[in-house]
Amino acid sequence: MSDPALDALMLPFAEGRIARVPGALFLGARAGAALHASQWPGLACVQGFRPQAQALERAGFAVRAEADPDPARRWPLVLALPPRQREAARALYAQARALADAGATVVASVPNDEGAKSGEADFARLFGAAGSLSKHKCRVFWARADAGGDPALAAQWREADAPREIAPGWWSRPGVFAWDRIDAASALLIAQLPDTLAGEGADLGAGSGVLAAAVLERCTGVRGLDLYEADARALALAERNLAPHAARVRLGFHWHDVAAGVPGRYDFVVANPPFHAQGRAPRPELGQAFVRAAAAALRPGGALWLVANRQLPYEQALAGAFAEVRTVVQRDGFKVVAARRAP
Ligand SMILES: C[S@@+](CC[C@H](N)C(=O)[O-])C[C@H]1O[C@@H](n2cnc3c(N)ncnc32)[C@H](O)[C@@H]1O
Repeated sequence: MSDPALDALMLPFAEGRIARVPGALFLGARAGAALHASQWPGLACVQGFRPQAQALERAGFAVRAEADPDPARRWPLVLALPPRQREAARALYAQARALADAGATVVASVPNDEGAKSGEADFARLFGAAGSLSKHKCRVFWARADAGGDPALAAQWREADAPREIAPGWWSRPGVFAWDRIDAASALLIAQLPDTLAGEGADLGAGSGVLAAAVLERCTGVRGLDLYEADARALALAERNLAPHAARVRLGFHWHDVAAGVPGRYDFVVANPPFHAQGRAPRPELGQAFVRAAAAALRPGGALWLVANRQLPYEQALAGAFAEVRTVVQRDGFKVVAARRAP
């Protein structure tokens, strides 16, 4: 799959504008042809999104979900592919600055339609005047970590995406899905969920645990619930948010790519599946893979409760895998579907 931001990020190295220093740190790292085109000894990748972390591992790179926990460690070069959410991107620039050695270069790449202009302006506030180029509908910008900028602002932005209690007992942070609200589709599914779900269940693409919390609050017959989520930060929040239920119900938290299937066997599954991967282009095959993963993980007679944008083409995948498929409600551009496996 093409990755213009990664292709653009590698350009200043390919053109010799920035030296390809061994032992560099890559925040928000992604695998791709431009990265693999030449050797990069000792490149340490940070990627909290499971499918991308696995792709990097398959390509032979060392990957962590979070940056090195050693606060004293400094890197001779820091590359960054910032997330789209602005506070989270600001926090990443500030993290890059904090982790860069004196004299190290920090370089970032942002697609034009994901806030390249504001990203470059934020970068310049932290680092001072920066070098830059435009290519592949992206902006690439770089600077020496110690060249200028504003250390006080860097300290402030370091906390820009820190976890916070956004409602009593509910923790979230910028950058995770619908971080400061309940997503409208999830709210519609929650409104329709029956209180009869029971036994062992799974939440596929669980985010910070919104659907799981609704299930646990409403369905007293639930004995166990496994949350599967690709975003390590969202999963950590879910674990914190659901902690009050842990004394009553067995809870599992899995940093996992649901599109590859899930290992358990369940009486019910709930999901608000993703339909975008990285980038803005819709990827309905992702939601279809979630439907197939749910069907394969359900016991005979098991039920799937799913919400999706109304126009997403999940019907064929549902009909192919379930004995009964019922549209429970269609409202505000979303549909809630209940599907049951043959007994
Ligand atoms: C539409 S959100 C729903 C989140 C949460 N269930 C809610 O209702 O607020 C989809 C979630 O799926 C996660 N996700 C995306 N791709 C995934 C994958 N391949 N495997 C597991 N989770 C994935 C996203 O990080 C996101 O948290």
